[in-house]
Amino acid sequence: MKTIHTIAELRAALAGQTRTAFVPTMGNLHDGHLTLVRQAATLGGPVVASVFVNRLQFLPHEDFDRYPRTLARDAELLAGAGCDLLFAPAEDELYPEPQVYRVAPPAALADILEGEFRPGFFGGVCTVVMKLFGVVQPAVAVFGRKDYQQWRVIDAMARQFALPTQVVAGETVRAADGLALSSRNGYLSEAERREAPALAAALRSLAEATRRAADPAALAAAEAAAAAALRERGWAPDYLTVRRRETLLAPDAAALAAGAPLVALAAARLGATRLIDNLEF
Ligand code: PAF
Repeated sequence: MKTIHTIAELRAALAGQTRTAFVPTMGNLHDGHLTLVRQAATLGGPVVASVFVNRLQFLPHEDFDRYPRTLARDAELLAGAGCDLLFAPAEDELYPEPQVYRVAPPAALADILEGEFRPGFFGGVCTVVMKLFGVVQPAVAVFGRKDYQQWRVIDAMARQFALPTQVVAGETVRAADGLALSSRNGYLSEAERREAPALAAALRSLAEATRRAADPAALAAAEAAAAAALRERGWAPDYLTVRRRETLLAPDAAALAAGAPLVALAAARLGATRLIDNLEF
């Protein structure tokens, strides 16, 4: 595997390729990322992964400065997972001037859930992903279902802009106790790490309660009960809710009665660490 730091070198390395598969990341890789790379490696073209901590998607009080930068280790892991090219640009390579052209995803999809608690987050994500797509020009890009709303927002962006990149989702990888792998799990203390699987358990209980809910009022009560149970365990939930899978709209009575495909989504703080997770059912 070759590590490349400039757009010009990456373009030269990919010249003539039409089947590039791309996995964008912010580094500090774990098996969740590597699963996406392994998935990309089955597609038959060269595999490019990027490592770039994107300032545009962090709020001023968030963890941009302390986000772990572990490029040497990331490169080793990527090579072992079947990545051909690692694109690791410096900040002024990707943003050599203030990025005044930005992607503005629709409020209905991007200002809810994560977007409500992290205003501007999806605008920052879409802008860097659009730029990375322009640089890599992938035929396929693989995003983790763990960041469920991000995958849906980017998929919709690719469709709306008729981008020549197929957006595909890779499965969430979980530890044996059910905790979804995340770069931010490393922030948890030992006691918090023991408690952390309760978030996935709360999603499972909420999914079961949803299948018993006859109407949106019953669902709202189930969501409130699930959030209260987490609060009692010491969590501070931002949201714990059930939505339609593609639109992320709340299901109506007909969807509940029909057993429509849904997703339960949660974000909650445990101590100083904010974790997100989801469950399709
Ligand atoms: O999911 C991430 O790691 C980031 O949001 C992404 C897609 C690499 C954009 O910075």
